[in-house]
Amino acid sequence: MLHVPSPSSRITGFYRLPPAERRRALMEIAQLPADGFAALDPGALSVDVADGMIENVIGVYALPFAVAVNFTIDGVDTLIPMAVEEASIVAAASNAARMVRPRGFLAEVSAPVMIGQIQVTDIADVDAATAALRMRAEELLGAARRLVPRLADRGGGPIAIDVRPLARSGPDGGVVVVHLHVDCRDAMGANLVNTLCEALATRTAEIARGRAGLRILSNLTDGRTVTVRCSVDDAALASQIAEGFEVRAAIAAASRFAELDPYRAATHNKGIMNGVDAVLVATGQDWRAVEAGAHAYAARTGAYRPLAVWRDRPDGRGLDGELVMPMAVGTVGGALHVHPGARLGLELAGAHSADRLAAVAGAAGLATNLAALRALATEGIQRGHMALHARGLARAAGATGELVDRVADELAATGDVKADRAREVLARLAVPPMVKTSP
Ligand code: MEV
Repeated sequence: MLHVPSPSSRITGFYRLPPAERRRALMEIAQLPADGFAALDPGALSVDVADGMIENVIGVYALPFAVAVNFTIDGVDTLIPMAVEEASIVAAASNAARMVRPRGFLAEVSAPVMIGQIQVTDIADVDAATAALRMRAEELLGAARRLVPRLADRGGGPIAIDVRPLARSGPDGGVVVVHLHVDCRDAMGANLVNTLCEALATRTAEIARGRAGLRILSNLTDGRTVTVRCSVDDAALASQIAEGFEVRAAIAAASRFAELDPYRAATHNKGIMNGVDAVLVATGQDWRAVEAGAHAYAARTGAYRPLAVWRDRPDGRGLDGELVMPMAVGTVGGALHVHPGARLGLELAGAHSADRLAAVAGAAGLATNLAALRALATEGIQRGHMALHARGLARAAGATGELVDRVADELAATGDVKADRAREVLARLAVPPMVKTSP
């Protein structure tokens, strides 16, 4: 039975509904028009439009698009759109958000400042070039600002210049890189920053008495980060096989493991990116940029570290989690002009600004991290994965209605979760019971 205390994101039993009923429920909550979900129907992104997006197009590739429920972010009930192929990510995010729900996720988003790099090579005197560039920084900044007057009107635009000497000599001679910091407001900003860097390169090289090298944004957007925090009570962490305080201790230990070991930190961060990327894909973002930034940021101290850590709460009755990572996202520009699914994703999330989208993606990442660590700390990850995988196989074998659960339960119980086995079980269970007749 569906319970929608509108406009809450706490939708009990959402996962049990067929897709059409899920859409109906979301239509009310997100106040979408009746045809709002047409954006997800086959053909919504036409081959013609796709042909205008990239080169050599031969079709359009589909992914499941889902909504994770139970999230509150900064006190606002929020639906989390996710496009991803891996089973259990959406369920994991929704379960973790339910555990966190009494306090919810709290996000802090930095100003949306991107870095553009202008490399200058073949410099004879790097110290003199660095000093000259620092002295002329205002001139360069002014030139950059004049190129984007409308952005400045909206409160953004170029805000600072840094000069970083990189090499005094070597195959490229003396090398200096100039960083142009640009507040991109609601745009991800790659085009904007690249355009500015290209426009300033000649003058920059002249000032440094060198040769203009690369001019391109940096994906290590350490000036554009999101911090998400949450706190979970022990009672919410308890599982069938472990008390809440035991699960808490195991999650805190798993976090320390990731802090000690880059091999574990990579997997820990993968669990975060499960949530982050699914939101980024569903909202038409450049997820490769965010991935690149995330891992560079994780390694910024010289050791590869986890992007989120978990600690015992000071009152000893719960767990505090904190995620900090670069989040270069935008709600204007990019694929959003043309991709109907991405626009729907933003609408469902209520993400009308880059800040809010960063908060949503970050909260999804902290949620999938919590769910993964809780599963690893208790029954292991495979049981839940297998149960969901079994449902997928049951459906693929042709099961519908209550047969999905019956086939999946039998596959999961025997541990033999395979496609041919799903077909066999379905064939047996789908046979109507024989009616006994008297001889
Ligand atoms: C699988 O997609 C993600 C996990 O490996 C993350 C983790 O180990 O923390 C479960």
